[in-house]
Amino acid sequence: MKCLILFISFGLILSLCSIFFVTEAHDVITTKITFSREISRIFYERCISCHHDGGSVFSLMAYPEVRPWAVAIKEEVLSRRMPPWGAVKGFGEFRNDQALTPEQLELITQWVEGGVPEGEAQDLPPQPKFAGDSGTPGPDGLVVSGDFKLDRALKLDGLWPQKVTDDESLQVIAELPTGNVEPLLWLYEYKSKYGHPFLLRTPIDLPAGTIVRGVPPQSSIVLMPATLTPAAEAQDTQR
Ligand code: HEC
Repeated sequence: MKCLILFISFGLILSLCSIFFVTEAHDVITTKITFSREISRIFYERCISCHHDGGSVFSLMAYPEVRPWAVAIKEEVLSRRMPPWGAVKGFGEFRNDQALTPEQLELITQWVEGGVPEGEAQDLPPQPKFAGDSGTPGPDGLVVSGDFKLDRALKLDGLWPQKVTDDESLQVIAELPTGNVEPLLWLYEYKSKYGHPFLLRTPIDLPAGTIVRGVPPQSSIVLMPATLTPAAEAQDTQR
């Protein structure tokens, strides 16, 4: 009996040791990439518009805030869930698509797998300020709700989901008077807290008589014009 107890406690000590070694091995730094040098620059550019103090989610600005999320960060960026876009890619072309480049993905992956080193404080870039959004839909925006016929020409610069149910899938097209169809935006798993517009790579000319289809009556999307002539503005208020 004594022998058995001895045997079991010996086994326990052994397994404790191996747990200890495993965590030890995990913390070994095997990469030169650091938070202060490379990773903070990627995050400042691509993540912290949402992930900052007082933002819509937890902050990713400082190393102690980032560290507990390291593994989740790797998973989210590799699966391309972060940074979120909220629309089907390839349906319409947008200049503010914030997808990470393959090089940025590689840096983040190597950094997480290499032990998540912090680096030197002096390498940190200056912290960006948050002076509001890149532009909220102004009064000039045309609010579309339900199928909508343009009574005047519009040079479309972007679309901004104004009232969309979270995770709603919604395909918006413009049916030109010629019968041609322009794909505009296919919202997919968009969440209102992402709060970003979809700015077109090149503005699209929509002649008068164009019908914008695909926005359900209970939702609304703002069409952002590239420019508005005073005459068009006057017409706009008549709607
Ligand atoms: C447009 C806003 C926005 C941007 C930009 C953004 N995120 Fe997020 N992130 C969110 C929101 C909102 C959540 C909460 C989960 C959700 O609702 O999708 C989240 C959740 C997360 C999570 C937690 C996921 C989980 O396990 O619950 C991680 C990790 C993350 N983001 C990492 C990043 C990284 C890294 C970047 C930059 C490469 C980034 N995010 C850019 C809005 C954003």
